Amino acid sequence: MKVWKVSSTQPSDESLREAANALRQGNLVAFPTETVYGLGANALNENAVRRIFSAKGRPADNPLIVHIADLSALPQVTANPDDLPEPVHRAMEAFWPGPLTIILPVHPQLAPSVHPSMSTVGVRMPNHPVAQKLLRLADCPVAAPSANKSGKPSPTTAGDVLEDLSTELLNGDGVVDGGSCDVGVESTVIAFEGDKVVIYRPGGVSKEQLEDALGIPVVLDPHIEQSYTHTTPAASKAGSAESAGSSAQSKAGQAESEEFVPRSPGMKYRHYAPNAQVRVWWGDARRVKERMQDFAAKHADEQLAVITRHPWLDCPENVLCWAALGPSASEPTASAYERILSRELYRLLREFDRHHAAHILIEGVPPTGLGLAVMNRLTKASEGRVQQV
Ligand code: TXA
Ligand code: MG
Repeated sequence: MKVWKVSSTQPSDESLREAANALRQGNLVAFPTETVYGLGANALNENAVRRIFSAKGRPADNPLIVHIADLSALPQVTANPDDLPEPVHRAMEAFWPGPLTIILPVHPQLAPSVHPSMSTVGVRMPNHPVAQKLLRLADCPVAAPSANKSGKPSPTTAGDVLEDLSTELLNGDGVVDGGSCDVGVESTVIAFEGDKVVIYRPGGVSKEQLEDALGIPVVLDPHIEQSYTHTTPAASKAGSAESAGSSAQSKAGQAESEEFVPRSPGMKYRHYAPNAQVRVWWGDARRVKERMQDFAAKHADEQLAVITRHPWLDCPENVLCWAALGPSASEPTASAYERILSRELYRLLREFDRHHAAHILIEGVPPTGLGLAVMNRLTKASEGRVQQV
C-alpha cells in the first residue's frame, strides 16, 4: 500500500498520476473529497468494486455512489442523459461540482455490485481539487463510499482512513493524503420522483438551498423524519434522556427490520458510531449545560468527552477531553458552530475513542440548513439519545 501526499489546493499531476493509474488498473485508492474521504475503485471493474465491500465490511445490498470529474463523463454512468427531466439538469448546474449526489437511471456498463439489484445509480461530481484531478487522470467513473469500516464515523483525514483500512489495503492500493475535509459530513442524496425532489440522506447541500435553486417541492424521505420524532419537546418532556433514548433505540431496531426499508439502503444500518456512548442535547444553551452537568455528576466515576459551543469556567472533574468549537472571533456568526461542528464531528468522535472516553456529550444544533445533516448523523451516532431542551 502506498500513501501519496499532495497539496490540497494545487496537487501536481505527477503525484496523482500514479494513484490514477492504480485506480484504472483495478486497485483501491482512497482520496479526499470536500465532504469525507472516499474509498475508490474503477466503477467499470466488478472485481475492484467487490473489494470495496470486503475492505469496508459493507453489506452487499448497499449501493455505491459513482464519482465523475465533469459532465462529459455523464453518458458513462447513466444511459440517456439527454432524456433526464429539466429539474435534474438544473440541480447539476446549481450544485455540481459539490456535495450533492443525484439518483439516476443506471448505465448497464457499470459493475453490477455498484447498484445491487437496483436500476438506479447515485452520481456525484466532487469539487475538491484533489478529487477533481484524480478523476480526470483516471479517466473512468469511480465508485467510492466513505473510506471507513462500516458503522464507524466517516474519515475526514488520511490518518482516519489508515486507522480503519491499513490492513485491508494491499500492494498496488493506496491513499491520497490531501489534508482534512472541509464540509465534514457526506453529500446530500436526492432523487427526482414525479414533480418533486426527495432527500434520501441530508448532507452538505441543504433542503433550503435545493428549494431555492430548483423551484419544485423538496421533501424528506419519511425515514429521516422518523429518526427525528423523538427529538421534539413533547417527546423529551415525556421522560429522562435515558427513557427518550430507549424509545429511540427501539426505533433504530425497527429501522433494521424487514418491514421498514428506507429508499436509500444505507440509511437502515447502524452508522457513524464511536465506541463511546453518545448523548446529544440541543436548544437553550443554559439548559444544555445543566443537562450535561447533571449527567457528569451522575456518572462521576466515568470519563467523559464533551463538545459544546462555548467553553465553561466550571468544568466537571471527570471530563477527559473538551472541544469548545465557537463561534470564535474569526468565525463570529451563529451558524459558525453548525459549520464547525459539521467539519470537526467525525474527527472528534474518533479522537475521543482513542482517549477511551466512556460517554461523549454533545451540544447539538437546530435541524435546519446544514444542521439537519449534522443532527441526522448525531441521531445515528447516539442511537437516538437526542433531546431538545
Ligand atoms: O459525500 C459522500 O457522499 C461520500 C464521498 C466519498 O463522496 N460518499 C459516501 O458514500 O458517503 P456512502 O457509500 O458512504 O453513502 C452512500 C449513500 C448510502 O446511504 C447509499 O445507500 C445511498 O447513498 N445510495 C447510493 N446509491 C443509491 C441508489 N441508487 N439509490 C438509493 N440510495 C443510494
Ligand atoms: Mg458511508
